[in-house]
Amino acid sequence: MAIILHKSEERSLRQKAYITPELTPGEFNYICRRAYKYCGLDIRPGKEGLVRNRLAKLMRQLGIDSFREYCSYLEKDADGKALSSMVDCLTTNHTGFFREEQHFRFLTSAILPVIEDRQQIDIWSAACSTGEEPYSLAFALLEYFHERVKKVPCIRILATDISNRALTTAQKAVYSLHKFSNMPQAIVHKYMLRGSGASQGLLCVKPAVRELVQFRRLNLMESFEEVGEFPLILCRNAMIYFNEETQEKLIANFHQRLEAGGYFFVGHSESLNRITQPMKYVCPAIYRRSGELSSRTHRGHN
Ligand SMILES: C[S@@+](CC[C@H](N)C(=O)[O-])C[C@H]1O[C@@H](n2cnc3c(N)ncnc32)[C@H](O)[C@@H]1O
Repeated sequence: MAIILHKSEERSLRQKAYITPELTPGEFNYICRRAYKYCGLDIRPGKEGLVRNRLAKLMRQLGIDSFREYCSYLEKDADGKALSSMVDCLTTNHTGFFREEQHFRFLTSAILPVIEDRQQIDIWSAACSTGEEPYSLAFALLEYFHERVKKVPCIRILATDISNRALTTAQKAVYSLHKFSNMPQAIVHKYMLRGSGASQGLLCVKPAVRELVQFRRLNLMESFEEVGEFPLILCRNAMIYFNEETQEKLIANFHQRLEAGGYFFVGHSESLNRITQPMKYVCPAIYRRSGELSSRTHRGHN
């Protein structure tokens, strides 16, 4: 008797039968070397299982059956797409609106009062992932000026990440409703548009907010002197991917991009205690370049 399977059943059977390919120490080392060279990703021994499982999913989509074949696919990667999708699998884009809220409180209580009279305010969200962080900055700035009935200056938020996939989501600016569960409804109402029909349950950032944020692909391992200078740079929850040597170089570069007295935010589970770096500690996850921030407009970002 012939058994007829639906397409979806067939697919699920195929997936169940899929055995995660073996990863040899040589292949693991090759993948680690490529990831480190490409974006500073520091994968330590002991992470073989994680690498194997995460990449197995990607290999399945690519129709690649063994890590030997996958390594040669990486070797032939002419346009960087293979490396980029590999790093997308090995890192996380986890983020959220007003994540680590203390930073937003510090911004509105300690930084904005000093620079509120500037004609232009520039902030850099480095490693912005899918956009929730830079849009939260935009909401916080707009709310600050509206509450004080002050003229809103020109706001320019530079938002960068290495992941094209994350940046595409960020630029679309469409998020599901549950992402806003801990945001005041008044703010959601003010800055988001509700989807209807096929977009039911989705919210889109209003164009007037979207235009304050400029997204750009930027690999933090490459030079970023041309981005300009900022009173505030955020590089939150990305530092964990880098070893101490890479962190030291990166912090020295960020330090160069801060105005005198400018602030630098890292994630709350990250600390710069263990490395030699030029910034001053302010409070947990907040550092500062020496000097005083000017109340006048600075040159800003390019
Ligand atoms: C966990 S997310 C952090 C998002 C956001 N900053 C936050 O704290 O909610 C980490 C981000 O770092 C990015 N990333 C990792 N290595 C990078 C690199 N070398 N250059 C730029 N971005 C990088 C990843 O693509 C990812 O989107």
